[in-house]
Amino acid sequence: MKISVCGKGGSGKSTIVTLLANQARKKGYRVLVVDSDESNSGLFRTFGFDEPPVPLMELVGGKKKVQEKMKKGYSAAEAKTAMKVMTQKHIMVSDIPRENILTKDNLGLVSIGKILQSLEGCACPMGVLSREFLRKLSLSSNEIAIVDMEAGVEHFGRGVETSIDAVLIVVEPSFESLQLAKRINSLSRGIGINNIWAVLSKIPSNGIAAKLKDELDTMGIDMIGCIHYDAEIFQSCLEGRIFEEGKASEEIVDVFDSLVLKANPGH
Ligand SMILES: Nc1ncnc2c1ncn2[C@@H]1O[C@H](COP(=O)(O)OP(=O)(O)OP(=O)(O)O)[C@@H](O)[C@H]1O
Ligand SMILES: [Mg+2]
Repeated sequence: MKISVCGKGGSGKSTIVTLLANQARKKGYRVLVVDSDESNSGLFRTFGFDEPPVPLMELVGGKKKVQEKMKKGYSAAEAKTAMKVMTQKHIMVSDIPRENILTKDNLGLVSIGKILQSLEGCACPMGVLSREFLRKLSLSSNEIAIVDMEAGVEHFGRGVETSIDAVLIVVEPSFESLQLAKRINSLSRGIGINNIWAVLSKIPSNGIAAKLKDELDTMGIDMIGCIHYDAEIFQSCLEGRIFEEGKASEEIVDVFDSLVLKANPGH
């Protein structure tokens, strides 16, 4: 299963990705976390790694090389053929070169690419790579890929979600976040994704959770769980370290269970 975790900037996407990945590992799944956010670079820290993986973009000659091709009039599809690793029809986790994947205890972490310099150009080539990597990524039944998407909806315009099985919308308690959830829902439906769920994040009270659930119900979005505001999570994010077990890691248990149940209704 390939799950895309999306939502408003700062809503808690990377936090939910980390919590979900850890819970999936506890349940015996092998998890590939795909860092598809070209701006933030701290995801490796919350998994306890000292350094980020070498981005997959490096495998394909770097962002500039792809951009050069696109500037020369190559379509995104043609630019893709220049990408060495992408010449394979299917990419299995074990195919990913060692320096491009950080691993430990049933976890793999890859990063598509980061914008590191000013005037480096737009992130479209990374969008192409994300889309193609996710399309070709071939998972076995006990493997789950969890994609930490960039904030907002631009990735939908780039077609990154075309081979995604489920979209998890992270909703923080704000009007903007709800509005974005509505858009993500309709964009996801527009490309044929039926597994679309919302998870509440940074919730200060059960009253607020109930209000958000009502709003999401009205939008026809299935709310599958709630992560309350957790001071331990806040502190870990501040210090850039792994999450200790706490309220959030207890609450993610139900979120993960309902996600698996909804993804495999017959089981
Ligand atoms: N459950 C929580 N309890 C308390 N604070 C939280 C919680 N989840 C997230 N935060 C706070 O919100 C901040 C943003 O969280 P996170 O980085 O997960 O969001 P994001 O959606 O990935 O952001 P971005 O759009 O920048 O990638 C964290 O640095 C942390 O301070
Ligand atoms: Mg993030």
